[in-house]
Amino acid sequence: MPSITLLALLGTVASAAKVCTNVTVPVYINARQAVFDVPTFESNFDAVKFSLDFTNIGMNYTDVVTTGFQTVTGKYNISAKYCKPQGDNKANPVVQVLTHGIGFDKSYWDLSYNNYNYSYIDVAVAAGYHTVSIDRFGIGNSSHADPLNIVQAPAEVSALHEITSMLRNGTFPQVHQKFGKVSYLLTALYPGSSDGVALTGFSMNGTWLGQTLADWNLHLARLNQPLRFGNQSVSRTKTNTAWLSQNVISILQSALSAVGINFSSSDIWQEIATTEVGDIINGWNATVAPPVTLGEIFTLANGAPATSPHTGPALVLTGRQGDCLATGGAAASIPAGVAKAFPNASKFEAYIHPNTGHGINFHYNATGAYNVIQNFFASNGLQSS
Ligand SMILES: *[C@@H]1O[C@H](CO)[C@@H](O)[C@H](O)[C@H]1NC(C)=O
Ligand SMILES: *[C@@H]1O[C@H](CO)[C@@H](O)[C@H](O)[C@H]1NC(C)=O
Ligand SMILES: *[C@@H]1O[C@H](CO)[C@@H](O)[C@H](O)[C@H]1NC(C)=O
Ligand SMILES: *[C@@H]1O[C@H](CO)[C@@H](O)[C@H](O)[C@H]1NC(C)=O
Ligand SMILES: *[C@@H]1O[C@H](CO)[C@@H](O)[C@H](O)[C@H]1NC(C)=O
Ligand SMILES: *[C@@H]1O[C@H](CO)[C@@H](O)[C@H](O)[C@H]1NC(C)=O
Ligand SMILES: *[C@@H]1O[C@H](CO)[C@@H](O)[C@H](O)[C@H]1NC(C)=O
Ligand SMILES: *[C@@H]1O[C@H](CO)[C@@H](O)[C@H](O)[C@H]1NC(C)=O
Ligand SMILES: *[C@@H]1O[C@H](CO)[C@@H](O)[C@H](O)[C@H]1NC(C)=O
Ligand SMILES: *[C@@H]1O[C@H](CO)[C@@H](O)[C@H](O)[C@H]1NC(C)=O
Ligand SMILES: *[C@@H]1O[C@H](CO)[C@@H](O)[C@H](O)[C@H]1NC(C)=O
Ligand SMILES: *[C@@H]1O[C@H](CO)[C@@H](O)[C@H](O)[C@H]1NC(C)=O
Repeated sequence: MPSITLLALLGTVASAAKVCTNVTVPVYINARQAVFDVPTFESNFDAVKFSLDFTNIGMNYTDVVTTGFQTVTGKYNISAKYCKPQGDNKANPVVQVLTHGIGFDKSYWDLSYNNYNYSYIDVAVAAGYHTVSIDRFGIGNSSHADPLNIVQAPAEVSALHEITSMLRNGTFPQVHQKFGKVSYLLTALYPGSSDGVALTGFSMNGTWLGQTLADWNLHLARLNQPLRFGNQSVSRTKTNTAWLSQNVISILQSALSAVGINFSSSDIWQEIATTEVGDIINGWNATVAPPVTLGEIFTLANGAPATSPHTGPALVLTGRQGDCLATGGAAASIPAGVAKAFPNASKFEAYIHPNTGHGINFHYNATGAYNVIQNFFASNGLQSS
């Protein structure tokens, strides 16, 4: 009993440094976007065909499916988490707006593993910052909408701009202070909206986007994770993945054995582990990657201005692993290649963080990277005071 009490107490103390609130932020989205004509995917074959079309070096598939442009407007909700240091009474706090990449949601910034040892928010709050982490429009608990022609990059940026405007003008729900903020596209489309920018795992060079997409092995979310995205009435509490896994293995094992194929249960698991059935078994865990929309894929590398008018400091921090120095001589490193996108930044820095890949927050030395970011902001005039 005493040790349980102690653990609980330690948990309270460890999280006491930051005070967080869940906020639903109503935003008015207004974005000029492409209209794509792509038939609704019915099966995984359609997902494979899409990957083949998108990576076909003989054509620009985005161009092929673009039928026109439209202005998308509407009221949507953005799910946000606002955190600040406990007992904070600084007159001029700086807020960091944290947005996430494909396959993540806002939990990326406040990972609970190992008692929040990987939490970016813990480090930023300890350095005196306030934070607003969001589920991007169309993702997680933010509003969902047509995944092809509504949830595209410009609409997501419009939502982010609304959030930064509300933080600046004091109308962000439950918060009444003035702040500075973040995001590359945001600063390119809305000059002056952000005082400082830190981008992680970011590149202006889309040369390898096709290969990256091919690596993703796209499947339909409905088939891949029916418990989360399907219309089946399966209750989580009634599903037991160990039971499912064991039954699938033994049924397959006897069926194969009946036709003379003698596989061990480990062999059988290898047969199904990389299939849709394996995904259903694995997909039980809520922590598996959320899906991406086609609209986002089409607008990921298209439509962003080549340069940002941003005049504040800009940091690009990327993990050393993943051939971050293999630029073919075009620049010293992939992040260094971003410098020309920020011609007017008061300070530009490309930082290579060692022993780390793209998803910096999941690496052992994540806090090493977090400290580099806080120090960059603090030493460039963006410190809470
Ligand atoms: C806020 O939302 C998170 C999930 O994102 C949940 O775990 C937590 O309990 C919520 N906190 C409050 C105070 O509602
Ligand atoms: C492909 O087409 C899109 C839409 O017309 C355009 O924005 C993009 O620049 C094109 N990409 C290339 C590499 O030409
Ligand atoms: C936003 O969330 C509120 C509840 O917090 C709900 O009443 C409203 O209908 C939602 N709006 C949209 C556009 O989903
Ligand atoms: C957090 O990381 C530190 C070292 O960075 C380590 O000493 C500590 O044990 C970790 N805490 C937990 C709960 O894993
Ligand atoms: C979304 O809300 C549900 C229910 O409150 C919660 O369990 C889940 O953790 C939330 N997800 C995110 C990303 O906030
Ligand atoms: C604050 O900004 C939001 C988002 O752009 C806008 O809707 C609202 O009218 C603004 N309020 C004031 C008082 O300026
Ligand atoms: C479930 O979804 C599939 C595909 O979208 C559809 O054909 C089927 O009618 C749906 N079933 C139910 C019970 O809604
Ligand atoms: C199947 O292979 C295992 C070894 O992998 C062996 O022990 C077993 O006797 C084999 N069964 C049959 C029916 O061949
Ligand atoms: C689900 O996650 C837990 C850790 O939270 C892990 O122990 C378990 O093996 C995972 N299950 C599957 C099927 O991946
Ligand atoms: C940078 O500043 C110069 C001088 O004010 C201006 O002409 C130029 O358009 C700016 N560049 C960008 C990308 O905004
Ligand atoms: C993009 O990277 C490739 C090598 O990965 C390089 O050959 C090419 O010159 C780069 N493009 C630009 C515009 O820097
Ligand atoms: C941890 O990160 C910091 C900042 O990038 C770096 O200086 C340090 O060498 C890293 N430590 C390890 C063991 O990689």
